[in-house]
Amino acid sequence: MDCKNKAIGIFDSGLGGLTAMKELMNVLPSEDIVYFGDTGRVPYGNRSVDTIIKYAEQDVNFLLKHNVKAIIAACGTVSSVATGLPHTLTVPFTGVVKPTCEAAVKATKNGRIGVIGTTATIGSHSYKKQIAELAPHIEVVEKDCPLFVPLVENGFTDPDDIIVRSVVERYVTELMEKSVDTVILGCTHYPLLKAAVSQIMGENVTLIDSGRATALFTAELLKGKGLLREEEREATYKFFVSDTPHNFESLAGIFLGRNIENKVTQIDIEQF
Ligand code: DGL
Repeated sequence: MDCKNKAIGIFDSGLGGLTAMKELMNVLPSEDIVYFGDTGRVPYGNRSVDTIIKYAEQDVNFLLKHNVKAIIAACGTVSSVATGLPHTLTVPFTGVVKPTCEAAVKATKNGRIGVIGTTATIGSHSYKKQIAELAPHIEVVEKDCPLFVPLVENGFTDPDDIIVRSVVERYVTELMEKSVDTVILGCTHYPLLKAAVSQIMGENVTLIDSGRATALFTAELLKGKGLLREEEREATYKFFVSDTPHNFESLAGIFLGRNIENKVTQIDIEQF
């Protein structure tokens, strides 16, 4: 098969990577996508570096078995912690950190950027280091939000829900006190809480979502390597998870705005 006609592989610990997939579907509508959500082992963000790297390697091995032409780690945690991964791969690879930081640096006006992410992501200071490389004068305030991923995986995203509001308030107050004007949603699950974060932080704070920036970065990456599909066509999407598909199917279907009932396959990720 011509390399251009192969699918793009995307993975995350669960639903979060769909925020990148949705944007990729808009940016590159003719490209097939294979999505893997490691729902049996979510969350990744409170695990050790060694465990996250092992999981990420297995996720990548699974996607490579599907003969993908490129891989997106649509997971802030993997992108931050498994930084050696791209060097072991023969297909183009991107995480979410670099594209998202570029977008945030462009957006800030007062030079103060907040970063929220999982505990592993914030502990790695990946976003802070990347911003320092791009624009050393910018001040970065970091805050881990370990309850956000479980909220999203359980469908708690309504900004008017008292539980959602109090958890979000607890985490973002510190960033508000530091007067950041831009906040990086440094975990791909967090765009699902965007309405809640925005309601509490106010509309003057710009929220940077990794999905769009990463989709645009991927399009450029594939273009640069001559790997974009040439003809316009209807793309096919395949979904795999490592636990029972039921919860993923309903939440992912709502999020993507398409019915994926009975279209999600459960696999044993420990075999890869
Ligand atoms: N979406 C993942 C991220 O971007 C969630 C990590 C987790 O499972 O804790 O970090």
